[in-house]
Order: sequence, then structure tokens, then C-alpha cells
Amino acid sequence: MRKVHIVGNWKMNQNLEEINSFSGAVQDMNDISCEAWIAPQAIHINLLKMKASSIKVGAQNCSNHDSGAFTGELSPKSLKDLGAHFVIVGHSERRAIFGEDDALLNEKVLKALENNLKVILCVGETLEERESGEFKSILKNQLLLGLKNISASKKGDILIAYEPVWAIGTGKVASPAQAQEVHALLREELKSVSGLDAQQTPILYGGSVKPDNIQGLLENADIDGALVGGASLKPDSFKDLCKLTK
Ligand code: 13P
Repeated sequence: MRKVHIVGNWKMNQNLEEINSFSGAVQDMNDISCEAWIAPQAIHINLLKMKASSIKVGAQNCSNHDSGAFTGELSPKSLKDLGAHFVIVGHSERRAIFGEDDALLNEKVLKALENNLKVILCVGETLEERESGEFKSILKNQLLLGLKNISASKKGDILIAYEPVWAIGTGKVASPAQAQEVHALLREELKSVSGLDAQQTPILYGGSVKPDNIQGLLENADIDGALVGGASLKPDSFKDLCKLTK
């Protein structure tokens, strides 16, 4: 059975005061049955980990190198030392704003796995790509190129997130049927990735997920949780999302 994961991606949000009040408000989360993960800004990983013990904390990005002359980069080795549990790789904002391509993202995936971090590999199409009808082959490429050369010993450390770019921060959630169609396709493609177990790999949906739409999404066979931006910033809606997975 694949466990449901609710993962908050805080992006470049939440100041110290907000993290302190969020942490106080999630102290009572120990009875939830899902995996509750949050990726704050990297400078706050340690703080959130110390303050919110019911939540597993991770990073929104990492370097494809362990160390060296890479000014401003985030070493996956140091993230692990800091207590990070996971890293998000290939978010559409990294692809679009920072020009990260599939080859670089594959290097990041492999480097993060080597450092014993779990990896959430994000894939997603733009509105233009969806409307052109090309989106299925685009998603398949993002998935297969991102997951090249994974060692079978790491198969339990990979999660996939399907985040249609047109649904991120727009309030325009993909319908459960649209999301399930893509998740089923991704699961089918995962069967061809050597070293991975397609049936056991969680596939999360992301894009305008809120407490009032998560249940419809989770009712589908291949939707195993959510990667959540805006609705993960407030403790009440994050807790509601976690509780609604029961
Ligand atoms: P929203 O939930 O704010 O649409 O953001 C989704 C996202 O980008 C999570 O990684």
C-alpha cells in the first residue's frame, strides 16, 4: 500500500515569526495517518525541524555537486547533515525561472539519492503544451530523463509530483479525472524505469490543492497525495489537508 503524502512547498515565504506561530499550531498533529512533509526556505530547515517534530522537513532544491566552487548553491550533503529528509527537484519554477533542464535535474536526483535524501521529482506541462496535445510526450520525457540511472537500492526513495503549470497558484485545479489520467500514464511509464517499482512509487498531485478539493483528488487510484503551495502556509489548512486524507 502506498502511504498518502501531504507535502507543503513554502517556496520563498514564511518569516521567522510565521514559522514560530505555525510550529506552535501544529503541535497537536501526532494523530495523523499520512506522511506530513514541509519544504521551507533552506535557511529555516533546522528551525522547523526542531520546532515541529510531527513534520518531516526537506529542501526545495539542491546542487548536483556535494561541495566545491559553486557560490550560492545548496549542497545535498550539507542538507542531509542539517537533518533534511527530502528534496524537491525540478519544480516548474526551477525549470522556467532558473533554466534547469532534464539533464541537470537528473544529476540532482542522483546526487540527492547518493546522499540518502528522498527525492520528489516534479513534472508538469504548460497550458500551451496541454492545448497543443503534446503534453503527454512532454511529461513522459521529463519523467524518463529525470530518472535515468537510478539504482534499484534507491527505489523506495523516489516520489513523483505531477504539477500542471497552469494549475499552480492560479486557483485552477486540474479536475480529478484530468489528474488521474496523467497519474495513470506516469505510473505506466514508471514500469519502464529500471530500478523502480511503479506500483510502490507515490505520485502526488500539485496545483491549487486546498482542503475543499483534496478528497476528490485522493479518491483516484493513482493519486497518492499532494504537493501544496499556498494552502500549506497556514497551519489550519495544512492540518485540514492532513486530516482529510483519512
Ligand atoms: P499552489 O498550491 O499554491 O497552487 O502551488 C503548487 C505548487 O507549486 C507546489 O509545489
